[in-house]
Amino acid sequence: MPDALELLKTRRSIKPIELNGPGPSAAELETLLTVASRVPDHGKLVPWRFIIFEGEARLAAGAAIVAAFRKKYPDAKPEQAEAERQRLARAPLVIAVVSRAGAHVKIPEWEQVLSAGAAAMNLVLAAHALGYGASWITEWYAYDRGVLAALGLKENERIAGFVHIGRASEKPEDRPRPPLAEIATRFS
Ligand SMILES: Cc1cc2nc3c(=O)[nH]c(=O)nc-3n(C[C@H](O)[C@H](O)[C@H](O)COP(=O)(O)O)c2cc1C
Repeated sequence: MPDALELLKTRRSIKPIELNGPGPSAAELETLLTVASRVPDHGKLVPWRFIIFEGEARLAAGAAIVAAFRKKYPDAKPEQAEAERQRLARAPLVIAVVSRAGAHVKIPEWEQVLSAGAAAMNLVLAAHALGYGASWITEWYAYDRGVLAALGLKENERIAGFVHIGRASEKPEDRPRPPLAEIATRFS
């Protein structure tokens, strides 16, 4: 396993299309979910959950995405529809991080949403620590209520991200990062 700080300093997203199989084993999947669920959670509400897409189930979910796509674009070409069907089948494993944040007497909804973001980030980092590449994306279907209902989300639930996980064939180049002087100020 790489040094933790080195991992944090070098992590990069890998495009879903560049994430190949074989995907994580059952034991690795358990590690991923264990790390993802070990996040700060004000009030211990567990305001998130995970949906795992592997194997043929990725295309079954894709059928719901195509159906919503065809509704929006009835004249879409067959190859466009096929690309939509493949959305969740680009990487060998996709884990949807579902936010179930809601009104609460004590815990602001905002903090519950942040906890879901932390879960998604932990998932990405755990994947990298296991030697996999990962990509945290949403894309249009994360905001389509028809697709979400077909994936089993309730009305109050939202997608924090579809985390795509697989093996990266190449090490990606880094991208510019914000200069610390611009984003961190000392209060005085
Ligand atoms: C909530 C959330 C949703 C995102 N959705 C997308 C997306 O739909 N498509 C995309 O290309 N990047 C998306 N990103 C950005 C990528 O995860 C990634 O951060 C970006 O490609 C930069 O790469 P890096 O992680 O290597 O810095 C999203 C990020 C977040 C936090």
